Amino acid sequence: MNEQLSASQLNAAGHLMIGGCDSLDLAQQYGTPLVVYDVSQIRHQIRAFKRVFEANQVNYEVSYASKAFAAIAMYQVADQEGAHVDVVSGGEMYTALKAGFPLSHASFHGNNKSYDELVMAVKNNIGVIVVDNFYEIKLLNQVLTELDARVKVMLRITPGISAHTNKYIQTGQVDSKFGFDLESGQADRALEAVLASPRMTMIGLHAHIGSQIFELTGFEGVANKLVEVANHWQQRYDYQAQVINVGGGFGIRYTKDDQPLRPEEFVDAIIKAIKAAVASTALEMPAIWIEPGRSIVGPAGYNLYTVGSRKDLPGYRPFVTIDGGMGDNIRPALYQAEYETVLARDPQAPLAEHVRLAGKYCESGDILSQDQALPKTKPGDVLAMLDTGAYGYAMASNYNRNPRPAVVFAENGHSQLVIERESYEDLVHLDRPYTEAK
Ligand SMILES: Cc1ncc(COP(=O)(O)O)c(C=O)c1O
Repeated sequence: MNEQLSASQLNAAGHLMIGGCDSLDLAQQYGTPLVVYDVSQIRHQIRAFKRVFEANQVNYEVSYASKAFAAIAMYQVADQEGAHVDVVSGGEMYTALKAGFPLSHASFHGNNKSYDELVMAVKNNIGVIVVDNFYEIKLLNQVLTELDARVKVMLRITPGISAHTNKYIQTGQVDSKFGFDLESGQADRALEAVLASPRMTMIGLHAHIGSQIFELTGFEGVANKLVEVANHWQQRYDYQAQVINVGGGFGIRYTKDDQPLRPEEFVDAIIKAIKAAVASTALEMPAIWIEPGRSIVGPAGYNLYTVGSRKDLPGYRPFVTIDGGMGDNIRPALYQAEYETVLARDPQAPLAEHVRLAGKYCESGDILSQDQALPKTKPGDVLAMLDTGAYGYAMASNYNRNPRPAVVFAENGHSQLVIERESYEDLVHLDRPYTEAK
């Protein structure tokens, strides 16, 4: 059986179970393509992160990076688990508010926050704004003056560390579009500007070096760098950071070639690196914040698809086509992401062939997997793609005017629709007929 599954995920009939629900029943009840989350896996990972901090006796926040999967139900689960969240847009903030999530537990990120978004954040008592650039400092000062308000801020630093990961998801190198550079003195000037603002309360510094990272060295490097900056700021400006936020990026296992540490092992190493670095300074130990997205929702997600057409060509790997594709998961087309897929009715069935899993979208690049070993399949079979919970639905589109799939939460044998499948009517509801000018 696929190594990413355990025997406990099969029921007596041998079908794949998700959150205690038979995946074939879910496909039947809600239709395909379908995104299913095993909610207990989400809870389990948040709790595992929290336990590491508690074992190390440091103040902390686990801030779920909601860009990985944002939905009212997801903000509710984060809240139930006592997690903070990161938001990066007015839309994510709005969704969190609709969920009843207290925005005082949210950090607002982004390299081009708009005036309206800053107003929305401040009016709704955002927990902290992670300030990214000088334009934002000016705009935020203006918003705070107009609203006669104050807000907590952190500064996003570009630590000059390149994570060993796909270049499209690198964000910590010197010429990144995010954050203040250290070498050129930008970060110092940003601190001076924030400290000079009577309406901003500077609480700490932040860096995020990339995503799907497997090496510890990058994280230890960023931990040391942030303490170094905090120490420099204390000596030069008499400013003591209350928070060091190391971002997210903990890699997960998508295929058997991926052998990452467990996400909480990365965090344990980061905490220890920060503690050791702080011990060699006169700093008081700051709180440590992390912002995991992928590691919280990625492994908890499954995409269910139904097999349709097939193309065989002598001498070539066959195409098996499913009823979804790049519209519900752009990652393989965008950055050659790889996944494992199993036959939902029998994940243990002997593998019979290597196929290309093709999507139904009108793009030759719409191939979800270039090489997937599968048992013999036939039209109507349900396939389950594993570990699809991060940046899948979140990046879904209506390309080719295909409706986006439904999303279901499954937990303890109970399933619940948390995002409805889009209808054709949904697809045209913003369209307006054109009336030709006379
Ligand atoms: C600032 C910031 N924090 C956290 C994350 C979450 O990263 P991941 O999902 O890899 O944990 C991202 C993702 O790009 C990010 O940009």
